[in-house]
Amino acid sequence: MSDSQVLIASNRGPLSFSLSDDGELTMRRGGGGLVSGLSSVTAEADVIWVCAALSDADRMAARDAPDGRLDLMGHETGGGAVRMLDIPAATFHRAYNAVANSTLWFVHHLLYDTPNSPHFDARARRDWQSYEAYNAAFADALASDAAPGAKVAVQDYHLSLTPHLLRERRPDLKIVHFSHTPWAPPEYYRLLPDDIGAQVLQGILGADHAGFLAERWADAFLDCCESVLDAKVDRLGRTVSYRGRITTVGVYGLGVDGAELRARAAEPDVAARAQALRAQVGDRQLIVRIDRTELSKNIVRGLAAYWEMLINHPEWRGRVVHLAFAYPSRHDLPEYREYTASVQRMADEINDEFGTDTWEPLILQVNDDYPRSLAAYGMADVLLVNPIRDGMNLVAKEGPVLSARGCALVLSREAGAAAELAEDALMVNPYDVSQTAEALHQALLMPRDERAERSARLSAAATALPPQRWFADQLAALD
Ligand code: G6P
Repeated sequence: MSDSQVLIASNRGPLSFSLSDDGELTMRRGGGGLVSGLSSVTAEADVIWVCAALSDADRMAARDAPDGRLDLMGHETGGGAVRMLDIPAATFHRAYNAVANSTLWFVHHLLYDTPNSPHFDARARRDWQSYEAYNAAFADALASDAAPGAKVAVQDYHLSLTPHLLRERRPDLKIVHFSHTPWAPPEYYRLLPDDIGAQVLQGILGADHAGFLAERWADAFLDCCESVLDAKVDRLGRTVSYRGRITTVGVYGLGVDGAELRARAAEPDVAARAQALRAQVGDRQLIVRIDRTELSKNIVRGLAAYWEMLINHPEWRGRVVHLAFAYPSRHDLPEYREYTASVQRMADEINDEFGTDTWEPLILQVNDDYPRSLAAYGMADVLLVNPIRDGMNLVAKEGPVLSARGCALVLSREAGAAAELAEDALMVNPYDVSQTAEALHQALLMPRDERAERSARLSAAATALPPQRWFADQLAALD
């Protein structure tokens, strides 16, 4: 990696805090795919990671530290400096929940029930102002911390305005913005109020380089720049010229660090979970899925497909178990709470319909148990990954890497991972429940050696671009 100073900016940082009943702050490291990917690069260079305080406990910790610098307070940051921004709670909630997660996330994942939403009114304008303020807080912090000519890597849809705001403050910096989500096609993107849609694109075009997980999303971004901003787009060269500046666009298909993942999966807590799971399911075949409780993950249709498979192919009854592990996410949003409830209802219905005294067809668990997820990957015969739309989907990549005997992957064609894994997966249209049911059946029938061969090729593709190289390549694009 480059030896110059690097700043990372992301909503969620590498640390979070919680507050015990007696008022003590407890720190926790880690987070989802984005965070764990980035964490592995911070130890290597002169890095400052700027993130937001996400909770009251985070805000307390950030306030206690000089300039929010948690590393200076002796917190174990895993290498590198971490600056946590104490953004006022109301501003943060409007920016994160109302704009980032209820608007931009919904647009990029095509999640709206359009007869009813979105609904952009005066309140949405107020929320948007908070999003602007939150993005400006990041730009201010980055501008004050960056050494001359430093590189700044701004992450995701939470921070789409920050590149432009930072360039206004510090034209000397080299800025890359990376989108971990899909990008909406122009017809859907135009659901956003015109000025807001333009501002988001202009914000990202404040960067020198804009990165995406798959070609499809990069192309959709270029389409939006052309149709919304009337910017000059060179598709072959992947550049956008707008208001006298050029932003280059690149595709970086984030993969997993195979060695690190295998080492983690070899730890005793994973073996203990595997043993407990095996005791629960016996020698039955296992269909595994692991997701955040996230609307775009399409868990309900996945369960419906399992149901339909048990109807159409009753020979599987008693011989297969579906493990569905969903870890809670974004439960401040009512849509997410309702969605989780419908996942639970559907799971109960399946067990009610098909369960017997000796067979529980579905084990749904809604909690966060990382070692148990790693154990499930190891045991999976079939891995089901059927999102409506997904930037990449790292579950589709982690599963084959950890699968002990090789697993058959049933994969949505709308996941970014499809670009790399389609050849050796069983591909499905995520809205087609019957097709997914049939793919599950075929996956269970797949001969052992074919399964192992496909799984080995999936694993090789999954580890082709580990996080360290994924990040280094983006920084190199700034030179
Ligand atoms: C997606 C986003 C990330 C986000 C993660 C978890 O992967 O691209 O930016 O961190 O979901 O969501 P959360 O809202 O819990 O940070």
